[in-house]
Amino acid sequence: MKIEIAPSILSADFARLADALALLESAGADVVHVDVMDGHFVPNLTIGPPVVAALRKATRLPLDCHLMIEDAERWIGDYARAGAARLTVHVEACPHLHRTVQQIKGLGLEAGVSLNPATPPETLSEILPLIDWVLVMSVEPGFPAQSFIPGALGKVARVAAMIAAAGASARIQVDGGIGTANAAAVVRAGARSLVAGNAIFGAPDPRAALAALRAAAESGS
Ligand code: DX5
Ligand code: ZN
Repeated sequence: MKIEIAPSILSADFARLADALALLESAGADVVHVDVMDGHFVPNLTIGPPVVAALRKATRLPLDCHLMIEDAERWIGDYARAGAARLTVHVEACPHLHRTVQQIKGLGLEAGVSLNPATPPETLSEILPLIDWVLVMSVEPGFPAQSFIPGALGKVARVAAMIAAAGASARIQVDGGIGTANAAAVVRAGARSLVAGNAIFGAPDPRAALAALRAAAESGS
């Protein structure tokens, strides 16, 4: 089974993002994972709509924007205009999640909803039929190169069971501490998209690291 590989440019050299995009394209990445942080919902600050617009011009790959921000509804139009293909928001940061998801879908984008490590899958029950992706965080969001939280594996399996029971078509993405050591297990649990930052950009040969991650992921499918 084809597994989406979504390299996170959070671990790339921010002064050389065009080079990172070219590398990802030639290495066969499926999408580019863009980690947007606001310094409020998470204790880190990264990039905003102007940088997403610049990335859009520099690659053919779809931009998978992970919005770790409060007040997402205020920004969704900007990220859509900047050229994002998918917007994933956090259940913990969206008090009006149904409206937020409708807003994303209304703009013709794929909608994802993410769960922090301590947030139970049951919080998705009402929104599951409406979304394209569930993003299960396997680290606390905010920083790259953290260790995979083992409990995320069982959580992916529980989300997969919920999706099946609801007859929904949402797919599961997993983000945080993913590498060749755990990719197959995460896919076996039900993930269809793997985000990886440090395992790719922190490797001596990012191109080889991406190929190895894909091989590991697809061995679990
Ligand atoms: C964490 C981000 C992730 C993360 C992935 O807040 O959402 O996308 O940077 O990086 P690694 O693969 O290094 O854990
Ligand atoms: Zn992310």
